[in-house]
Amino acid sequence: MNDKDYDRLLRIKTVGTREWQNQSSHYNRYEATPYLALDELFDDYELERTDGVVDFGCGKGRLAFYLHNRFQVSVTGIEMSVQLYQEALENQASYREKTRGSNDTVRFECCLAEDYKVESTDNRFYFFNPFSIQIFRKVIDTILRSVEKQKRAVDIVLYYPTADYIQFLENRTPFELLKEVKVPGLYDRNDNERFLVFRLGEGEYEQAQST
Ligand SMILES: C[S@@+](CC[C@H](N)C(=O)[O-])C[C@H]1O[C@@H](n2cnc3c(N)ncnc32)[C@H](O)[C@@H]1O
Repeated sequence: MNDKDYDRLLRIKTVGTREWQNQSSHYNRYEATPYLALDELFDDYELERTDGVVDFGCGKGRLAFYLHNRFQVSVTGIEMSVQLYQEALENQASYREKTRGSNDTVRFECCLAEDYKVESTDNRFYFFNPFSIQIFRKVIDTILRSVEKQKRAVDIVLYYPTADYIQFLENRTPFELLKEVKVPGLYDRNDNERFLVFRLGEGEYEQAQST
């Protein structure tokens, strides 16, 4: 099934790219994670109904609807662009018709990722190359502060991971690589076509700080 067919199934519109005029070097363009890649990741990396996923830089909300449809999890999409946020809300209204109102656990916030207040119920954090390493560091710091207050296991999921994100997580944080999932058919031609899942187990942040 191609991306348009998958969108039709979910009754949403998420294909295409969106570039920014006066593009800042910190904020990247919109492009959704291919459904083919999402299928591959989530065949191998399952979510529980009790998980709270945050998609930092959610665009039109593809990941949120995909995950709600597949696992009935709670998903929060964070998007800085007012226009894309509005499109995510339109998708939500249309998806809600399909699910007859049972998508109350999907929500969107229009704000900068670096300003989002991490909730104690958030435990899976998704990044498809949304912004610069400087902003990524701030967001990870906010996640770690939240974990310090409310001890819990948390995962960072990177799609199309860049070397600076990986080096930062490996060398400057207590997160450890849990798994790598390569996207078949795409990875052979481009070795960025993969997911990396980093995990911080419950209580591990405290231990890492005190050593
Ligand atoms: C590559 S797209 C990923 C879309 C979506 N996560 C997915 O995988 O389908 C990156 C998105 O991040 C958004 N973005 C960039 N910088 C941001 C920031 N600082 N705060 C919130 N959103 C941001 C862009 O507007 C764009 O929609």
